[in-house]
Amino acid sequence: MTDVTDADRDSGDDESRLPVLLVRGDREFLVEPGEEMGTDLGVLEVPEDVKAGETIETHLGDAFEVRRLRGPDLFHHFERTGAPMVPRDVGLVIGETGISQGDRVLDAGTGTGVLSASMARAGASVVTYERNPEFADVARENMELGGVADAVDIRTGDLSEELETLEPSSFDVLTLDTGDAAEIVAHAPDLLVDGGFVAVYSPFIESTRAVVDAACEVGLSNVTTRETIQREMQFDDRGSRPSTAPVGHTGYLTIARNV
Ligand SMILES: C[S@@+](CC[C@H](N)C(=O)[O-])C[C@H]1O[C@@H](n2cnc3c(N)ncnc32)[C@H](O)[C@@H]1O
Repeated sequence: MTDVTDADRDSGDDESRLPVLLVRGDREFLVEPGEEMGTDLGVLEVPEDVKAGETIETHLGDAFEVRRLRGPDLFHHFERTGAPMVPRDVGLVIGETGISQGDRVLDAGTGTGVLSASMARAGASVVTYERNPEFADVARENMELGGVADAVDIRTGDLSEELETLEPSSFDVLTLDTGDAAEIVAHAPDLLVDGGFVAVYSPFIESTRAVVDAACEVGLSNVTTRETIQREMQFDDRGSRPSTAPVGHTGYLTIARNV
């Protein structure tokens, strides 16, 4: 298990114990120090004290560059189970709720764990529920790989059945990416500190409407829903314009505040 304290992370003293990316052209592998990785170019033995900026060769002599892991790499390299949140939506959740160092976040469902790991990397301690035990096991391994196993408590279970076991007013932010989010939002005023935020990501408009109704009914404030959409730009010899590929809708993000 990767065991890195916040102090280690802040000072960079123990960078060698964090997972790293090994990169060669379009090949990328996320690995832990000391790991042995089989690739189509031969076997890579990752030294225990591996550092970003170094080069490692496979046993056949092909060189890979060592890079430090960054947030979007979680989306590309975690083992996938429940559909992971794309980097732009992770950014919106963190930006709209102000998640930062020392925050306590309650999250469901864990799924692949991209959102949980990203919030932990922003400095929060995260309690996250996943009702599928196999998904929860994969997510625990993903947290090791993301270097945030100490900051993310993955609990196997259905959050809607565990709400009464949670301490009142013990979370700064509640993040939900589940079909039953509306039922859980109804408990947000009990779970959150005064001024805390709720962020709900919903792929469908029907469940979004149910979330908004529930948030208004229990008296949450500043209830706002936005479609998350992004248009890529193309720059080539002929000129510059928006990409003609389909517009990038991913879902609806509802934010509300416990005030
Ligand atoms: C879309 S995925 C979440 C992806 C996650 N946000 C990420 O970034 O990787 C939804 C997950 O929620 C789980 N789930 C759905 N309802 C749940 C509930 N009430 N409690 C716990 N887990 C739940 C599902 O099993 C699924 O794995």
